[in-house]
This record gives sequence, C-alpha cells and structure tokens, in this order.
Amino acid sequence: MGRINVALDGPAGAGKSTVARLVAEELGFVYIDTGAMYRAVTWKIIQEGLNSDQVDQVIAVAKQMQIELKPGQQGQKVFVDGIEVTDAIRSEEINQNVSWIASIPQIRELLVHLQQQMAVSKGIVMDGRDIGTHVLPDAEIKVFLTATAKERAKRRFQETKDPDITIDQLEFNINQRDRMDEQREASPLIRAEDAILLDSTEMSLSEVVTQVLDLCRTHVAGGS
Ligand code: CDP
Ligand code: CDP
Repeated sequence: MGRINVALDGPAGAGKSTVARLVAEELGFVYIDTGAMYRAVTWKIIQEGLNSDQVDQVIAVAKQMQIELKPGQQGQKVFVDGIEVTDAIRSEEINQNVSWIASIPQIRELLVHLQQQMAVSKGIVMDGRDIGTHVLPDAEIKVFLTATAKERAKRRFQETKDPDITIDQLEFNINQRDRMDEQREASPLIRAEDAILLDSTEMSLSEVVTQVLDLCRTHVAGGS
C-alpha cells in the first residue's frame, strides 16, 4: 500500500495505542506511541527526584536525556539512556505526573521535533493528543478516537496489574488527566477540524481497527 501518515488522537484509555499498533501491523507501517515519550520523560524526572516547582531543572534534564523507541513483539519498547522502561512507564505514579510534565511548552517542543523527524519518510501510525492538530497537521488520515470515561475506566481496569486500584479510582484519574490535557495552553487535547470522530463506546476493538483500515485504504485508492 502507498505510504501515508495516520494520526490517532483522543483521551486516555480510548484504545489509541492498541488500534494504532494493529493498524500499523496490518499496513506494514511503523507505529509510534508519543504518549510513551512523555511517560519516558516523566520516569526520568521522578528518578531525578524533581517536582513541579523545579521546572527549569526538569527542562534541563529532558534536554540531556536520550529516548529510544524500538519495535518489540508486544509493540514498542522504550529505553531511557539505555535502560528499558517499557513497563515502568505504565505505573500509577507516572499516570499521575505525566500531564504536568506534558504541559511544559519546552518539553513539548523537544518531543514534537523528534516525532516530526520520525514521520518524514511516511508510513507512520502515530498516536497521542496533538498529532492531528500539531505534530502532523498534514497527515493523510486523522482520527479522533473516544469513548465514555466509564467505558475507558472499565477497559483500563481489565488490564491493570495493580491489585489495589478500583474502577472508580481509575475513572477519577482518567477524568483528571483528560481535564489537564484539554485545558493546558500548549497544544491541548482537541479534535482537529478535519479528524474523523470515532466513538468506540459500543464498538469492539476489531470494529474500530476495520474502520480505520477502511479509511486508509479508501484514501490510498483515491476515494477520498
Ligand atoms: O495511554 P494513555 O492514553 O493513558 O496515555 P498516553 O497516550 O500514554 O499519554 C500519557 C500522557 O502524555 C497524556 O495524558 C498527556 O498528558 C501526554 N501526551 C501529550 O501531551 N501529547 C501526546 N502527543 C501524547 C501524550
Ligand atoms: O492508548 P489508549 O490509552 O487510548 O488506550 P489503550 O492503551 O489502547 O487501551 C485500551 C484498552 O481497551 C485495550 O486493552 C483494548 O484492548 C481495549 N479496547 C479497545 O481499545 N477498543 C475497544 N473498542 C474495546 C476495548
């Protein structure tokens, strides 16, 4: 299939990463999880013992660190300065800190620049919050994937490894993170005007994947 870029945005737990990975696999494209890059910075900042009162130091650390994304069997592997952090970046501590770090414009600038470089040669499926609006405004296909917060919390509950967390806590945390992502000044979470809205609340994973693949194939065939 011809090489295009696919931008997949939406709130936490909507299914972006899973859908993006499966669509990329099917098309033979490269999948890039930009949330993992913000999570990797957050991991490093926590390791350094920094907090939200130390923004200058946070930016300095982010500028020095090296993030690598490598393809793995279960999706993408993430490394920070050579250390694998693929699982570590999914903790509740990271969930609760990532949005304040992602609201720092200088950090967004650093990561957006890296993301744009990765997509230059096309054939990319990239998921995040600002891909269609800011990172790849010229992406051939843009999808804004969503679902109710209740449904997203339910999906997260099914995959959590934390025995102490409840579905209500997950829903609360998801709502809190969505609000921060939607309300920040620097490229907030918002649907691009030309993005197709897919509400997956009542849809199975394979239905969503099929719809996104159809959009890609129709575009490449010259149908839209
Ligand atoms: O997987 P989940 O939807 O929970 O989150 P994620 O995609 O891993 O993203 C984690 C956080 O990174 C988001 O809540 C945003 O604060 C931030 N993020 C962002 O600001 N811009 C992106 N392009 C991707 C993630
Ligand atoms: O990346 P994002 O935070 O948007 O979501 P995710 O990490 O892909 O997690 C979504 C979870 O919901 C995965 O376990 C999916 O298998 C499941 N799911 C889905 O993504 N879409 C559906 N229509 C139904 C379930």
